Amino acid sequence: MEFVLYEVKDYVGIITINRPKALNALNSQVLEELDQVLDSVDSSTVRCLILTGAGEKSFVAGADIGEMSNLTKAEGEAFGKKGNDVFRKLETLSVPVIAAINGFALGGGCEISMSCDIRICSDNAVFGQPEVGLGITPGFGGTQRLARTVGVGMAKQMIYTGRNIKAEEALRIGLVNAVYPQEELMAAAQKLAAVIAQNAPIAVRNCKKAINEGLQVDMDQAVVIEEKLFGDCFETEDQKAGMGNFLEKDKEKKLKVVPFKNC
Ligand code: CAA
Repeated sequence: MEFVLYEVKDYVGIITINRPKALNALNSQVLEELDQVLDSVDSSTVRCLILTGAGEKSFVAGADIGEMSNLTKAEGEAFGKKGNDVFRKLETLSVPVIAAINGFALGGGCEISMSCDIRICSDNAVFGQPEVGLGITPGFGGTQRLARTVGVGMAKQMIYTGRNIKAEEALRIGLVNAVYPQEELMAAAQKLAAVIAQNAPIAVRNCKKAINEGLQVDMDQAVVIEEKLFGDCFETEDQKAGMGNFLEKDKEKKLKVVPFKNC
């Protein structure tokens, strides 16, 4: 692949959008390659993913403006669908995804980070939905996910003004969970991923599914979703070992003794 790198180490996969000359802007080829990489994620050997951008300046500086500049209405809609389909695949992947935002996260960059489960960023990160300044709306989910992430009022303000915000403000409004010095970001992401990867994989996946699917429905339906996914964990080796270890007071064993059983 030309623009997307993928490596797996110690049960953690790292996807790197690798188009640094264009600040990792998302053109059709990047989206296509990302789609293929997501299809290739093997959930029997990967327990957590990290998504980041190549270079020290940019995570993703948005959809490719050059490619979009001459689109017709129909082509614009199709391009939006292409991005949305890939981002939805990322969002609904069974394993959790951490966005390690190492610089600009503008337009499609902010949008792809919001399709991840957890966002952490470097101190030089810049977030924004500058699309109205380009004569378009956010088109890869920004009008929907930003409002759900930071609240309607703040999302509307960011989107209508097109104003960029820095890392500390992103932290304050809840767009990211933590800010790190640039050189510490990937180590922090890997440490977080390793903690997640140590936990029972079926339970972690079911938690992701319960939270994501529960948010789309009313509370009565949401708790039923939780009940089913809670029940689904029982009779698994992880559940037997996890509870057995606790009852035997063998905390040292934890869940590390049952890697990938019943995945
Ligand atoms: N699309 C295409 N190319 C881009 C790009 C983008 N979104 N962002 C940066 N680049 C390219 C630049 O054209 C430039 O290429 P050349 O060297 O060939 O000229 C290269 O990356 C470096 O960029 P700059 O020279 O502009 O770097 P800078 O440090 O001066 O500025 C920046 C950085 C503020 C991020 C600036 O590049 C910028 O404003 N980029 C556009 C950001 C943007 O508007 N993103 C939203 C796109 S629309 C969208 O995403 C719609 C959607 O929701 C789907």
